[in-house]
Amino acid sequence: MGSRIGRRVAIVAGLRTPFVKSGSAFKNLSALDLGRIVTAELLQRSGIAPKEIDQVVFGTVIHHVSVANIAREIALAAGLPRTSEAYTVSRACATSLQALTSAADAIATGNVDVALVGGTESMSDVPIGLSRPLAQAMVLASKGKTVLDKVKAFSTITAKDVLPVPPAIAEFSTGQSMGESAEKMAKENGISREAQDAFANRSHTRAAKAWADGTFAQEVMHVLVPPKYEATSEDNTFRKDSTVEGYAKLKPVFDRKFGSITAGNSSPLTDGAAALIVMAEEKAKALGLKPLGYLRSYAYAGIDPSWQLLQAPAFSVPKVLARAGLRLSDIDLFEVHEAFAAQVLSNLQAWASRDFAKKHLGGAEPLGEVADEKLNVHGGSLSLGHPFAATGARMVTQALRELGRTGKQTALLSICAAGGLGAAMVLERE
Ligand SMILES: CC(C)(COP(=O)(O)OP(=O)(O)OC[C@H]1O[C@@H](n2cnc3c(N)ncnc32)[C@H](O)[C@@H]1OP(=O)(O)O)[C@@H](O)C(=O)NCCC(=O)NCCS
Repeated sequence: MGSRIGRRVAIVAGLRTPFVKSGSAFKNLSALDLGRIVTAELLQRSGIAPKEIDQVVFGTVIHHVSVANIAREIALAAGLPRTSEAYTVSRACATSLQALTSAADAIATGNVDVALVGGTESMSDVPIGLSRPLAQAMVLASKGKTVLDKVKAFSTITAKDVLPVPPAIAEFSTGQSMGESAEKMAKENGISREAQDAFANRSHTRAAKAWADGTFAQEVMHVLVPPKYEATSEDNTFRKDSTVEGYAKLKPVFDRKFGSITAGNSSPLTDGAAALIVMAEEKAKALGLKPLGYLRSYAYAGIDPSWQLLQAPAFSVPKVLARAGLRLSDIDLFEVHEAFAAQVLSNLQAWASRDFAKKHLGGAEPLGEVADEKLNVHGGSLSLGHPFAATGARMVTQALRELGRTGKQTALLSICAAGGLGAAMVLERE
């Protein structure tokens, strides 16, 4: 049973919006809109009375200055009772796993019975900032007593200071972008361009098949987008015509001369939201609900971001398995976040490597190989998209529904995140 402390946490419902490329179908919706839309629909579909929701924990990665606590605004906008409290979390690409584990801890310890958790992201609506000199001048001007004081505040501003400052998908501590970090991983771990392209093709092919088969029908909602209220019902991130030759033609993006990371083997910038309802097992029984599954264990790990930024799952996964009292070979299904094909292949390689275990895990046995038929069976973030904060909740629902379909018992989730962070979770069906 692993190292569970306190009440067992059941995941009773999960839903997401379609995930769409930034600047496309959801370009007029904010992260708050997407969070509200998925929350309201999830509640309605679950049949759980809104008054049962004690707590809302939601997250976003790119924060808007106008929304200090997006979880609370989502709860209010989705029509939850004013009495259900709410707070916001942020852990880069593992944000909605953080929302889940924060709520799970509160449930396990008896402080909360039922929580609604999730993540939402709009890469179409990123806050564009001001340069520091311009922001300082504006503050000074607001304090000016006369018009002349106000005008004087801007006297040192240059043309360069007036340029808008977009948020960077780069490490604050190293200045390196995610793509550049993935390039470094590919080179240091010997992950070839061919292997990356083959993995990306695998992801897109599987996602296209899953969409065609209706696999996602119960876990992805339709979104009616104003002003015309046309329905968006499907991810627009996966390629229906994916062939491995198509990927080979693309030019590297982050190291144009010697690189191997392309638009084809990277996850796209994406808009979307995903949410879950979680509660104490005893509460689910009392409400007569059949959970999708249960949280068995979770673990986070951190590594030096200047080393291999997206390699922390090589540390969080051994931890989560130890906490679950399981071996890698006991796992029936793997959901591994696909930031870049090179990152997934680097993580898989580390789990299987005796050298890695010797060097980095105190000489422990390597975890072992992940069987291809158990890994990301319906695609992953490369093809399904990656609205940063929503990915974890997407993976939880996708994994539990797949366990339900196949009658299998255990799923392992792994997410690499900015800052050199890794998240891992073991879920079980019964
Ligand atoms: C890699 C990245 C820069 C590419 O952005 P982009 O140029 O807007 O990507 P697009 O989807 O428009 O693809 C570029 C082109 O490649 C083509 N392409 C992509 N995959 C293809 C494939 N498999 N076969 C053929 N063509 C393909 C697209 O059709 C497009 O062609 P076009 O320019 O003629 O329209 C962007 O997706 C990115 O920054 N991703 C990483 C995000 C990130 O860091 N996430 C954090 C992870 S934790």
